[in-house]
Amino acid sequence: MDDRRRRDWAPELPLRTPRLLLREHRETDLDDLALFHGDERTVRYLPWPVRSRDDTRTALLKKLSQHRAPAEGDWLVLAIEEIATGRVIGEVDLRRGANGHADIGYVVRRDREGLGLASEAVREIIRVATDGLGVTMIDAHIVPGNTASERFAERHGFVRHPDGDVHDPENPTRAYRWTPTG
Ligand SMILES: CC(C)(COP(=O)(O)OP(=O)(O)OC[C@H]1O[C@@H](n2cnc3c(N)ncnc32)[C@H](O)[C@@H]1OP(=O)(O)O)[C@@H](O)C(=O)NCCC(=O)NCCS
Repeated sequence: MDDRRRRDWAPELPLRTPRLLLREHRETDLDDLALFHGDERTVRYLPWPVRSRDDTRTALLKKLSQHRAPAEGDWLVLAIEEIATGRVIGEVDLRRGANGHADIGYVVRRDREGLGLASEAVREIIRVATDGLGVTMIDAHIVPGNTASERFAERHGFVRHPDGDVHDPENPTRAYRWTPTG
């Protein structure tokens, strides 16, 4: 990755894995996003409400410019496109922190769980974060009860990091941390 892309957290898109493209969001993705943004079970542990189509459109408008994260605190938000169908089946996100630190987020629509697709996307974003963006530490903040996400994080080398837990009774989260050495 060249210096400008690295500085601006602007990876060259799309990123490609065997079954997926990780790419910028487009206005034409609305139908695909509405499917999982409106799925109560999928968003149950996300910091998102269950969204109507109109609310999903508003959320999508914000995502359109989040294919780069030039400042600390910005989110890099990539659509997960399934190559076989051309549909957006989820998203993978990285929040830019200080000193090589990032937070991660991931979601796939319900009927694409259990196929290893989320794994493919997360492996690729970790690769780009570490090889291209200078990231050396990635945290996942998981809502208590989201055992699918805890298992998923552990499978990808994240380890429990209780110092990062948030004890806010309204929005508690359990922290998991990834470093290159585990
Ligand atoms: C968390 C989440 C992304 C995990 O998705 P997932 O589809 O279970 O994860 P994977 O892509 O790793 O799929 C793993 C499963 O697919 C199976 N699998 C099938 N083919 C596979 C392949 N080619 N490669 C890897 N795994 C494969 C694995 O054996 C595994 O099964 P298991 O869970 O019974 O062990 C998903 O549950 C989700 O989107 N949840 C809602 C949003 C959410 O809560 N996000 C997290 C916020 S912190």
